[in-house]
Amino acid sequence: MAQGKGAHGLAAMDASGLLSPYNFSSMVQRDDDVTIKVLFCGLCHTDLHVIKNEWGNAKYPVVPGHEVVGVVTDVGGGVTKFKPGDTVGVGYFVDSCRTCESCRTGHESYCPQLVETSNGAEIDGGATTLGGFSDVLVVRQDYVVRVPESLPPSAAAPLLCAGITVFSPMVEYGLNAPGKHLGVVGLGGLGHMGVKFGKAFGMKVTVISTSLSKRDEALGRLRADAFLVSRDPEQMKAAASTMDGIIDTVGVLVGVYAGEK
Ligand SMILES: *[C@@H]1O[C@H](CO)[C@@H](O)[C@H](O)[C@H]1NC(C)=O
Ligand SMILES: [Zn+2]
Ligand SMILES: [Zn+2]
Repeated sequence: MAQGKGAHGLAAMDASGLLSPYNFSSMVQRDDDVTIKVLFCGLCHTDLHVIKNEWGNAKYPVVPGHEVVGVVTDVGGGVTKFKPGDTVGVGYFVDSCRTCESCRTGHESYCPQLVETSNGAEIDGGATTLGGFSDVLVVRQDYVVRVPESLPPSAAAPLLCAGITVFSPMVEYGLNAPGKHLGVVGLGGLGHMGVKFGKAFGMKVTVISTSLSKRDEALGRLRADAFLVSRDPEQMKAAASTMDGIIDTVGVLVGVYAGEK
């Protein structure tokens, strides 16, 4: 039987939150697979939830990482999109069923059989996927993206999950046009991406936050145009109906799910 490549990674062995060196065999490269030497991998809060088994679904050992940038080292015989030497990225998932409504309309992230890059279950055989905290990753070409030479690979890595998480809805709702006014609620890992995309799209960007503590970062470093303190009713009233759309990056589910409980 074919063997994968000897891979060196970091894995969580239990819910302690610690990662330790972990040697394993990478997946065997299939016909439509790209083998990637990983250069950089972001750390997303989802990784922390899984590593610590906070969602109750950890399949240890867990090799985290789904914001991966690397260089193609080998390709299967059926690969047409990439060649060795290409700089590429891999995001939150590495496969999906390809036939359901979501897959057919370009919304694979909603596929019921979605295969997450880390701690996911392969459709064929159910093996647990091992993520980007490793030197080798083997992924089907359709779930690999090209990373432009002009982007520093280390800075590109967080775009593969945090970036696309705000970019996709912004584009879906037309919040990517010069002159429009975007509101960004929260200025963490996702919010700062929203500000940067908004400015890159030529938009006016207002950051909405509960306190003044993020004001300097928003207006100075990230070049947002305005800053609103959401606890100040006067400011909020004055800004009502002035924006074309608001992207909410604060993970507070109260209100959304309250009615379902
Ligand atoms: C992994 O393999 C390397 C040699 O390739 C070895 O030096 C190292 O001790 C191994 N680590 C573990 C945790 O087995
Ligand atoms: Zn993520
Ligand atoms: Zn599907």
